[in-house]
Amino acid sequence: MSSLTTSPATATGTTTKTYSSSFTTPSPTVSSWPLFSKTSKKCAIQSLKHKVSCNAGSSENLLNNLDRRNVLLGLGSLAGAVNLTSVPSVGAAPLAAPDISKCGTNPLSGFKAGENTPTGGDCCPPDSSLIKDFEFPTNQAFKVRPAAHLLSAKYIAKFNEAIKRMKALPEDDPRNFLQQAHIHCAYCNGAYTQSSSGFPDIEIQIHNSWLFFPFHRWYLYFYERILGSLIDDPTFALPFWNWDTPAGMTIPKYFNDPKSALFDTKRNQAHLKGVVDLGYNGKDTDATDIEKVKNNLAIMYRQMVTNATDPTAFFGGEYRAGKEPISGGGSVEQSPHTPVHRWVGDPREANGENLGNFYSAGRDTLFYCHHSNVDRMWSLWKMLGGKHKDITDTDWLNTSFVFYDENKNLVRVYVKDCLLTNQLGYDYQRVDVPWLKSKPVPRAPRSGVAKRLIGKVKKSDDVVFPVKLDKTVKVLVPRAKKSRSKKEKEEKEEILIIQGITYDSEKYVKFDVYVNDEDDDDDAAPDQTEFAGSFAQLPHKHKGKTSSKTNFRAGLTELLEELEADDDENVLITVVPRSGSEDITIDAIKIIYA
Ligand code: C2O
Repeated sequence: MSSLTTSPATATGTTTKTYSSSFTTPSPTVSSWPLFSKTSKKCAIQSLKHKVSCNAGSSENLLNNLDRRNVLLGLGSLAGAVNLTSVPSVGAAPLAAPDISKCGTNPLSGFKAGENTPTGGDCCPPDSSLIKDFEFPTNQAFKVRPAAHLLSAKYIAKFNEAIKRMKALPEDDPRNFLQQAHIHCAYCNGAYTQSSSGFPDIEIQIHNSWLFFPFHRWYLYFYERILGSLIDDPTFALPFWNWDTPAGMTIPKYFNDPKSALFDTKRNQAHLKGVVDLGYNGKDTDATDIEKVKNNLAIMYRQMVTNATDPTAFFGGEYRAGKEPISGGGSVEQSPHTPVHRWVGDPREANGENLGNFYSAGRDTLFYCHHSNVDRMWSLWKMLGGKHKDITDTDWLNTSFVFYDENKNLVRVYVKDCLLTNQLGYDYQRVDVPWLKSKPVPRAPRSGVAKRLIGKVKKSDDVVFPVKLDKTVKVLVPRAKKSRSKKEKEEKEEILIIQGITYDSEKYVKFDVYVNDEDDDDDAAPDQTEFAGSFAQLPHKHKGKTSSKTNFRAGLTELLEELEADDDENVLITVVPRSGSEDITIDAIKIIYA
């Protein structure tokens, strides 16, 4: 046990308090969170004009929500939850940290050193002959990341000052603002190869697989420490853009102040004030703000609960040394993570810069608050208990990256060391989690839908794959098992798999998936039960190949129960193209039990 001093929730003005935290917990459960540290903050939704139901935003409330959910889903007690994924597989080849001296030499990407971005700029970091191995911070102030829309004026000023100093550092200082932005570009635009793992012809890509959450957690960890050290405030913590709660669904207004270091000209000018669209299709809909809030909460529920039933669903597919990262991104990575990027990015720019394209995303300060909330989702997800555990595969745990720290040292870090935020010295401010109560309500039972459509809609066995997604695709997909018992359902999730999705990686690509929806697909919205999830890909500027291939999955167990379609032999799957879908092809649509 170690005692940590926290100065939580600067924004809420609560007093500093001390609590104990166990670092020996194998996986964070609710007990590793300071759930009983009361915040005085009432639900901030009250300040929003929309009438959205919401309880007081105390930490107890979150616990109540979690308890309620457990009762609803029969998950059992959080503390006693059985770890169903605890058998580690034999690690063969974890991806090793890139050799930064070889940055920009990837023969496949077509980049040359010195011109790693589509704009000809260089996204390689300064070289360093010395690599230190990561050590946990000791004797450090504990950081509590606050909700960005609840910051005090003082905190905003502090954040602004830290970014200002980061921008003022010499260009070749690895802590410099642009250098930090380049980290993201280098790790996702083909600047690094897997040469240190013995595969110099295969690139490193930290999106679309199980590396998404840990890479970004480490990235923010060092970013936050650099900011703190620049203002000499070891308690400085990166605010999180709380887009999963109604009052947090707009860009915090201090980001729009042209005099602020947080300002960025390359943002969608039509979105500076409005409610974010967590399911953004690349163009604005005519939904009212109230409808947008409702849809957003429904998307959150789908992606964090229905579609994130186990580690693979949440984190994304496997990605080991020698492999291309094509196994598919996790639920939250696809949506809302990707649509939020695109919603902020500037449509006046050729590639949706800054947030709308991977290579430039880190140049907008909002990126770090966006990802702070994405990272918070990882913590919240684990608090749901049950199968919500970190991956135990040793290849995942032993994957490494390198980052420069606040002292300009190049540090090698491992995924296994970032699983507990408390251990890394930070946590998140407790705020209400309204989407836990936002399960869409079925409009009508959808049983027998597939039966009625036999003869009118093709069965998946009769479809000639690959199919093109230039228009809505409807198909009846057989279920190998129907009317499963509660026990069978607890052991295995029924999963919809869309396999071999080939798409143009230079476009914003998105499609939505609906289950047993007989209605016109143009009316379909995420707040209806039939909405199963979204596939979304951020453009990925690259000089080499532009075609990518990956998979999509969505959880069906709960969905089919809600639609009262559990006894049906087939399911009607509707795939609705939303953006950049003209050249998408799909190799297979099936239902599996895993
Ligand atoms: Cu690395 Cu939000 O992207």
